[in-house]
Amino acid sequence: MARLAVQGLRKSYGKVEALKGVDLDIAEGEFCVFVGPSGCGKSTLLRSIAGLEEIDSGTIAIDGNVVNTLRPRDRNIAMVFQNYALYPYLSVFENIAFGLRARKVPNAEIKSRVSNAAEMLGIEALLERMPRQLSGGQRQRVAIGRAVVRDALLFLFDEPLSNLDAQLRDGMRAEIKRLHQEIGKTTIYVTHDQIEAMTLADRIVLLRDGIIEQQGAPLDLFERPATRFVAGFLGSPQMNFVATHLDHVDGALTLIFDEGRKLPLDPARAAAFDKYRSRDVILGVRPEHIARASGGAPQKPADASINALIDLVQPTGTRTYAQFRLNETEITVELPSHSVEHPGTTIELLFDMSRVILIDPQTQHVIQG
Ligand SMILES: Nc1ncnc2c1ncn2[C@@H]1O[C@H](COP(=O)(O)OP(=O)(O)O)[C@@H](O)[C@H]1O
Ligand SMILES: [Mg+2]
Repeated sequence: MARLAVQGLRKSYGKVEALKGVDLDIAEGEFCVFVGPSGCGKSTLLRSIAGLEEIDSGTIAIDGNVVNTLRPRDRNIAMVFQNYALYPYLSVFENIAFGLRARKVPNAEIKSRVSNAAEMLGIEALLERMPRQLSGGQRQRVAIGRAVVRDALLFLFDEPLSNLDAQLRDGMRAEIKRLHQEIGKTTIYVTHDQIEAMTLADRIVLLRDGIIEQQGAPLDLFERPATRFVAGFLGSPQMNFVATHLDHVDGALTLIFDEGRKLPLDPARAAAFDKYRSRDVILGVRPEHIARASGGAPQKPADASINALIDLVQPTGTRTYAQFRLNETEITVELPSHSVEHPGTTIELLFDMSRVILIDPQTQHVIQG
């Protein structure tokens, strides 16, 4: 087990600045996920920690010891790659045992460590097979087994599930989480998939263009995003963003839309937004925070309603996604199944104004209220 500290990390490839100064602390035993769009620097950061990239400046310390000048194999890190990187001419057993043989671990111990790892991953029956005789999911288990048998300080995963089909991915995701619960090693996991990040992480580090945009516990980031980018990256379907205008209507701060539609802000939060009065702002609202008004049922104090002409209905079975236009923008609403059956229907929608966010259009930062 180990803790990791990264300070002022910079890395360029020619003119491309892949990392523009990254500071990061990972606690002992933590499951930390690097997430962000393709090209934002996740793999570069992970590979720098592993010693596979030469960095331009900054320090990387494991348990307080700076490892900048240590070769990858001397950093005591186990890494699992997206393409598995198995040796095609070695059996599953020998693939898992490879790192141990290289370290001259005695045969009896290799045998017991490999069979423990194989049991943990449910691949005992496959030990004599060759990699080409395995499915994608089985190959990924072998790659993980190879990391598990080593008594490494840190586990690093770079998009380990990207090559698997969706169903297998869900299963392996749960297995990786369970494995971490069992062995408790400090783990860094790279993915571009926000669901993987949310479900696996103790802490999410959201990268954008070579810098950390925001980091924190998954639900912290989800419920308290600092920027429009974070708000839009986490959550599926995505948060809706609508350009609108904030002003007083009948003495209450209100978002004003076309066709005279209005959403009064939550009175409990309005004071914080007062300095944005008579200015344009961006409303951010998640699909699950808009509901269909059920005639007669009492509204929560923060609810505000508008009429919406539904123009698209997408039932998934579990939920139904409906869309309507507000200020030229398509808004997605997540409703219980059968809430609305046909496009062309006009319904009354309730916005939970205690959950919406407002964004400053200039800075793209969430206005803290
Ligand atoms: N070996 C390389 N040579 C040149 N540019 C690279 C190399 N590796 C990565 N990059 C560039 O660095 C940036 C970050 O890449 P990477 O860390 O692989 O992103 P991610 O893993 O988040 O998709 C990208 O602009 C990418 O094109
Ligand atoms: Mg990558």
